[in-house]
Amino acid sequence: MRSRRAISLRAHHLPWNSAGNLADNDLTADDVVRETGWVFNNETGDELTLKAFVETGDKEVQRYIRLLQLESFQFANSTLLEIGSGIGRMTSSFTNRCKSVIAADVDSAFLERCRQTVAKYGRIERLGTLHVANGKSLSIGDDSVDMTFSYITLQHCQPQDALNLVGEAIRATRSGGLVVLNFRTWVASDIVLVPLGVAVRRLWKLPLIGRRLARWRWSTRLGWQANRLKPDTVLQNFESKLVDIKIFHSVKRQMSVAASRAERVKTVPTNRINPSHWWLVAQVS
Ligand SMILES: C[S@@+](CC[C@H](N)C(=O)[O-])C[C@H]1O[C@@H](n2cnc3c(N)ncnc32)[C@H](O)[C@@H]1O
Repeated sequence: MRSRRAISLRAHHLPWNSAGNLADNDLTADDVVRETGWVFNNETGDELTLKAFVETGDKEVQRYIRLLQLESFQFANSTLLEIGSGIGRMTSSFTNRCKSVIAADVDSAFLERCRQTVAKYGRIERLGTLHVANGKSLSIGDDSVDMTFSYITLQHCQPQDALNLVGEAIRATRSGGLVVLNFRTWVASDIVLVPLGVAVRRLWKLPLIGRRLARWRWSTRLGWQANRLKPDTVLQNFESKLVDIKIFHSVKRQMSVAASRAERVKTVPTNRINPSHWWLVAQVS
């Protein structure tokens, strides 16, 4: 594969571009999962295969359709935009369910691998790809899709980029369509993790050693969570463009919104959502 790729200079893109460099190679698809799979589903090991990797994505798609009460959504007639598709772990499953899917990612080598993954385990004729070169805007028309979905991606963006992408998701989704977006919020351990993350991202910018550091698992895991966003922070920017707003969160933690919007926003405590995560599920008005 190996191509000349435009690499972003922004610190929070470096782990993805580093893993993308490994994927932009003549490695087999199974080898790519062994080398880079952990950046998507946190699993490591010499026994990993693309097939098993895609199965984890399919299980998660099924799980979130159930947990987020999306069973009545007409996937079969719909175009779905996935922000942060990676190498297609969940994308294959979406192409098997939807009329068409647009996989969007900040790393172009991931998108190439995503096409290969979907060709093997999904419906390649239903897939389009979109390179999010600047990490914050989508070159896609208004009202182009029926659902925009994003999982464990917005937490990796610089806070303003994450908010921009939420705006872009709403712009790209037709009126009456759904946005289904996953975020990370504050937990107690963030008192240590947030400053460490800032320090590690600074190290990634150092000449010579920085790029090498951004390839290591410990450093990636410390530095890649670039924001914590609360529901109120997202809603104060976008509430006026949404209706039927639901916030799904773990039963293990309290999550509320400001009293001024409590009537318009339903909070739904749910089993099997990570306590540091929450989901915005809403209809575009
Ligand atoms: C943890 S992975 C999750 C991938 C996929 N959702 C999954 O569950 O397998 C995060 C993905 O988001 C992509 N990403 C990170 N920042 C992004 C941005 N600003 N815009 C688009 N994609 C981004 C990364 O390249 C990576 O593929």
